[in-house]
Parts: sequence; structure tokens; C-alpha cells
Amino acid sequence: MQYSTRYIIAFSAAVCIVCALFVAGSAVLLRDRQERNVVLDRQKNVLDVAGVIKPGEFLTPAEIESRFAASVRPKLINLATGDINTTLDATTFNQREAARDPATSRAVPPNPSKVFRVPDQALIYEVVNDGGDLNAVILPIQGYGLWSTLYGYLALDPDMNTIRGITFYEQGETAGLGGEVENPRWKAKWPGRKVFDSQGRIKIAVKKGPAGTPEKDPYQVDGISGATITSRGVTNMLHFWMGKEAFGPFIEKEKEKEAMPPVAKS
Ligand SMILES: Cc1cc2nc3c(=O)[nH]c(=O)nc-3n(C[C@H](O)[C@H](O)[C@H](O)COP(=O)(O)O)c2cc1C
Repeated sequence: MQYSTRYIIAFSAAVCIVCALFVAGSAVLLRDRQERNVVLDRQKNVLDVAGVIKPGEFLTPAEIESRFAASVRPKLINLATGDINTTLDATTFNQREAARDPATSRAVPPNPSKVFRVPDQALIYEVVNDGGDLNAVILPIQGYGLWSTLYGYLALDPDMNTIRGITFYEQGETAGLGGEVENPRWKAKWPGRKVFDSQGRIKIAVKKGPAGTPEKDPYQVDGISGATITSRGVTNMLHFWMGKEAFGPFIEKEKEKEAMPPVAKS
């Protein structure tokens, strides 16, 4: 059967419209679920980097939400002063949007991580144990690798120096090379390393080649083979975010608190 040109064009247009409606409808209908999954993924990463989820442990979405609610306190930090901000709502705060908006961020000097602006307030997480005592502090980190900006978290012990863990929840490095930053075997090399030396200088670095144990080699972590540039990117971002332009003032204040004797309960 021979179809007219007009029929073919009308038929193609109808197929396109039906498909477009289907795609747009799915996007709208699934938006809530996508947003919930993004939140769940962040919560899972926070629990994971703090060691609240054990390696290999599987949690359902409801278990992630309840464990997060029970043990994690989101807090906003004024990066310039290091003080905790209690006026803004940390639970709804979007740090990436805040960092983009000139009204809620400031430009920083050129740095190897290619971070151009930092938010005035940064979202951190305090993890508490069953008794309510501080167990770990989780700081967001980001910086350029080879192809992409890597986004992740660094978890510190309450001494604000000993690393509890590191994780990356978004990155576009090559799978099998720079993408190995997500490999649990590489991440397992971080706990117990130290960020600062005894003089308070930021010393942690991903070296080229293998490092020793955390006890023997506290400031170095194995490089990822074939991914020296991504490895260097991780070092750079830690130096930036632990430094004076970012979490430096907050870390100093927390270290002072940690050094003070506990207040006796009456
Ligand atoms: C297709 C391709 C993808 C690569 N992806 C990465 C990467 O994600 N991260 C990285 O650091 N290097 C990557 N490299 C390697 C870098 O170009 C560079 O050679 C490497 O970082 C040097 O590391 P090495 O000294 O450990 O060999 C890639 C190379 C190729 C050809």
C-alpha cells in the first residue's frame, strides 16, 4: 500500500507527540521518587563513611532513614568563623545551590581543586552514639580530578584529625582507573590516617604507589594505579577543604573544644 507524504508526516508527528507525552509524564510522575532516592543515597553515604553501616551490610530504604534519624545530626557551619549556625534549617539546606548564588557564597583564591566559590554556610553531619555522645564528624568535600568534579564526604573522629573514612557519591572519572575512588578496597585504606601533623599542618596525601599501615605511615594513602591525576585530585581537595578557606576555622574550634576538660554534670 502506498501512503501519501502528508499521511507519513502526520503519523510521525503523532508518534513523536505520544512518546514525548509518555517521557514527560514519567519524568513528572517519578520526580518525587527520584528526589527521595537522591536523599536516601546521601543518607546511605553518610552512614557508610561514618562506619554506621558495616561493609557488606544491606539496609532497606526504611532502615536507612530510621538509622539516619537516630544517629545523624545535620548542622550548618559558617565557614568564615567556624561557628555553628542555628538560625537556618540544616535539613532543607542545599549547599550546591548556596555555593552558586553570589548572595550566599564567596569567591576563593585559585586552587588546584578548581573550587571557585564556597558557600557562606556548609552542611556537615555529626554522628552520635546511642548515649548521644559525638562519634564522628562528616564534612563534604569536592574537587577536580582528571575529567570531572568529584563529590564526597570525609569522616573524622571527634579529635578532628583521625580519619574515620572517605567516600565519593558522584564522580565522572574513568571506570577502572580514576573511578576506583569508589572501590571499597581503596576506601578501606583510609581509616586511622591523620589529616594534620603535630604542628597542625595539613599533611594527608594520596601518594604514587603503596603506602604503609596507618600506624607506620599516618599521612599517606596508596595511590590508585593508572590514575595519578585523580589521586592527586583527592589530595588537592582534602587540602582545600581542611584548609583556611573552608573548614579550617571550624576544625580549629572543634579541636579546642575537644582539648577542654569535660564540664562536670551536677
Ligand atoms: C582512556 C583513558 C582514561 C583515563 N582515565 C583516567 C582517570 O580517570 N584518572 C586518572 O588519573 N588518569 C586517567 N588516565 C591516565 C592519565 O591520562 C595519566 O596517564 C595517568 O593519570 C598517569 O597515572 P600513572 O602515573 O599512575 O600511570 C586515563 C587514560 C586514558 C587513556
